[in-house]
Amino acid sequence: MIKISKAGSKDSDKIAGLIQNHLGRDYKPLRITKEIIEEKMKERGNGFFVAKDGNRVVGTIRYSVKDLDLVDLRWLVVEDVHRYKGIGTELLNTALKELKKRRMRKVVARIMSDSKEPITVFLKGGFQIEGYFREHYRKGTDIIQFSRFI
Ligand SMILES: CC(C)(COP(=O)(O)OP(=O)(O)OC[C@H]1O[C@@H](n2cnc3c(N)ncnc32)[C@H](O)[C@@H]1OP(=O)(O)O)[C@@H](O)C(=O)NCCC(=O)NCCS
Repeated sequence: MIKISKAGSKDSDKIAGLIQNHLGRDYKPLRITKEIIEEKMKERGNGFFVAKDGNRVVGTIRYSVKDLDLVDLRWLVVEDVHRYKGIGTELLNTALKELKKRRMRKVVARIMSDSKEPITVFLKGGFQIEGYFREHYRKGTDIIQFSRFI
């Protein structure tokens, strides 16, 4: 059974592996390491949730407060073999619930324009498209910004 929980430093290695495997090419030449995850976990206004199958981390999401009550959601990843079972949606909903509890107002996510699954997950999660950025972080990759008020 899959369980979602707040992540702790003991999960940082597995989280780094997931992000590096599934989003690593977007961060080249940087490599996402355990140390980077631990650093982010300690940063004020940052937090991770993990989806676990027993002790095994199979998914993650990170939030990062950018301003008083404005938050970025980042690094939503689910392992290939566990996809299309609602885990991504559950991670998103868990993060939103936590952010609402923390009295956040606006949540933003930036997704590559050709990434079908994450776009579906955020649209179904009540997010709207509010911006389109051409070749933004990298040459050849357009970005869509999604947002939702909570
Ligand atoms: C985005 C991601 C986390 C979604 O994880 P997931 O656990 O599969 O998500 P869910 O099961 O909740 O939802 C997947 C949605 O994809 C859609 N989907 C289902 N089967 C599909 C298929 N064969 N092809 C495309 N889309 C499909 C469905 O609409 C489904 O939602 P629904 O079941 O509620 O209708 C996962 O695809 C992933 O890790 N992608 C790579 C990392 C990434 O790009 N992250 C975003 C950057 S932050």
